[in-house]
Amino acid sequence: MSFYGPPREQLGEVTSGLHCVETVYERLGLTTFMHDNLVALMRNQSFVADSPFISALLANADGDRDLDKIWRLHTCCWAARSALSLAGDFVECGTYRGFYAGVIAQYLGFGALPRQFYLYDTFAGLPPEWSTERERTQVHAGYQWDGVYEDVVNRFSIYPNIRVVKGVVPEVFETVVPEQIAFLHLDMNAGAAETAALDHLLPRLSDGAMVLLDDFGRMEMSDLCRAHLDWWGRHGHVILELPTGQGLVIYRKGGN
Ligand SMILES: C[S@@+](CC[C@H](N)C(=O)[O-])C[C@H]1O[C@@H](n2cnc3c(N)ncnc32)[C@H](O)[C@@H]1O
Repeated sequence: MSFYGPPREQLGEVTSGLHCVETVYERLGLTTFMHDNLVALMRNQSFVADSPFISALLANADGDRDLDKIWRLHTCCWAARSALSLAGDFVECGTYRGFYAGVIAQYLGFGALPRQFYLYDTFAGLPPEWSTERERTQVHAGYQWDGVYEDVVNRFSIYPNIRVVKGVVPEVFETVVPEQIAFLHLDMNAGAAETAALDHLLPRLSDGAMVLLDDFGRMEMSDLCRAHLDWWGRHGHVILELPTGQGLVIYRKGGN
């Protein structure tokens, strides 16, 4: 069970309440899902039977915090797989240690695909010019970047078609950017950086491109949520808010 948000003292109360619910459902032979700030009751969780997905998740996760994101990763792999029917490369803005990208790459057998996957990150945290102080405090408290760039380059060295690009989004697009994009994962935890990325990448999105916003639905990321609502609203799209905390847009030229 991984839950966050309420002060530490109250979290114990929350998890013991959830344990009671879990016990009752288990006794009745009914399923529960209580991870990553998501409580779902009586769901089939059919992705658990998808062996290639579970293998990719287990091979790439670094502990329970990563494993608890299983439903988000399922969404991510579904969107990435769906994008294979479109022309274009894959892009992730905000890669950190490469957990999501690692799962996607293994799940799809990316090394054998005739397309590129671009992984962008400063590998040094959120730049002040593209984030708010609140966003920086939220991320910088729980992450550290010493040696991460080298580790990520090493992690993806088995894939000839995955490019790890170090630099600030959006400026870095002036040096390396794909012509056409079928799958775009935005996970920089900063509304200004993510909407600036969209400003640059919009003309490159394929019709039907999968755009996944990792933090769109998270209450503590309300500034990022507003930034996306405003940006996508101006571009004629409504974002599907998922119970995982993600947002999904299937990009259509002319709006959805
Ligand atoms: C939440 S982490 C990404 C997690 C990652 N997707 C994973 O698989 O675990 C956010 C990352 O975005 C990066 N980032 C934030 N703003 C950025 C910007 N403007 N340009 C490039 N990278 C940025 C940070 O350095 C950080 O590593």
